[in-house]
Amino acid sequence: MAIIEAKNLEKTYRNDGVETPALRGVSFSIQSGEFVAIMGPSGSGKSTLLHLLGFLDTHTGGEYRFDGKTISDYSKEEIAHVRNKKMGFIFQAFNLLARTTVLENIKLPLLYSDVPESKWDGLVKQAIDAVGLSHRVSHESSQLSGGEKQRVAIARALVTNPQVIFADEPTGNLDSKSGQIVMDILQQLSEKQGKTVILITHETYTAEHAERIITMRDGVIESNIAVDNRHRARDHFEK
Ligand SMILES: Nc1ncnc2c1ncn2[C@@H]1O[C@H](COP(=O)(O)OP(=O)(O)O)[C@@H](O)[C@H]1O
Ligand SMILES: [Mg+2]
Repeated sequence: MAIIEAKNLEKTYRNDGVETPALRGVSFSIQSGEFVAIMGPSGSGKSTLLHLLGFLDTHTGGEYRFDGKTISDYSKEEIAHVRNKKMGFIFQAFNLLARTTVLENIKLPLLYSDVPESKWDGLVKQAIDAVGLSHRVSHESSQLSGGEKQRVAIARALVTNPQVIFADEPTGNLDSKSGQIVMDILQQLSEKQGKTVILITHETYTAEHAERIITMRDGVIESNIAVDNRHRARDHFEK
C-alpha cells in the first residue's frame, strides 16, 4: 500500500511579491515499510519536499496524499494529531530542549498525544532501548555528544510509535563514525520494525542504506532508482 503519493506536486514560496518556485511538478509514491533516500544539491528542493510530505507546509499545486488523505481533508487539530501519531521527525540540528534530561526530551511528544499516561514509561523505555541510550536517561541533553543528541532525537521521534520517520540530513552535523551509528539505527527501524523511512542526505554512505534513491535537481526529480541491496551481498559472496 502506498503511504505517500505525490502527483505533479508544486511549491512556490511567495514573500513580498517575490516568487521562488522550489518544487516544479514532482510525482512519486512510497510504499509502507520502504526505506527511501532523497538526494540532490543544496537548493534543489529536498527540505521543501519533506515539509510537504510531513504536513509541515502546504503545496501550491498538484496533489499529495498521506495514508490516502490530503492536507485539506483535515482540520488544523487533526493535522497536529496525524503529525504527532503517524509521523516522526529528525532534523540536522537535533532540536532538543537544552537543560532538560534525555528522558524529558523523549517524553515530550507524549505530552501532546492522546496516549494514556499509564503507557508512557513503557513507550519511553522502548524508544530509549532502540537507540541504545539507557545509560544516559538522566543526563541533560547539552552534556551529550552530537551522535548521542541525534540518537535522543530519534528516540523522541519514535516514542509515539509512528509509521513514518522523516529525517532531514540527520548525519549532517556528525562525524562519520557517529553518522554510521545513526544510519544503523534507522536501518534497524526499517528492517526490524517495518517503519517507513524517508531520509534526505548529501552523503552516499548514508544513502547506501536505502532501498530506493530519488535524486532531485532544480525542483524536479532527476531519477528514482531501486537499489539492489542483494546485488551487493552477492558480489561479496562471489569474491
Ligand atoms: N521559506 C522560504 N521562503 C522562500 N524561499 C525558500 C524558503 N525555503 C526554501 N526556499 C527556496 O526554495 C528552494 C529550495 O530550498 P530547499 O527545499 O531548502 O532545498 P534543499 O533542502 O534541497 O537545500 C531554494 O531556492 C530556497 O532558497
Ligand atoms: Mg535542505
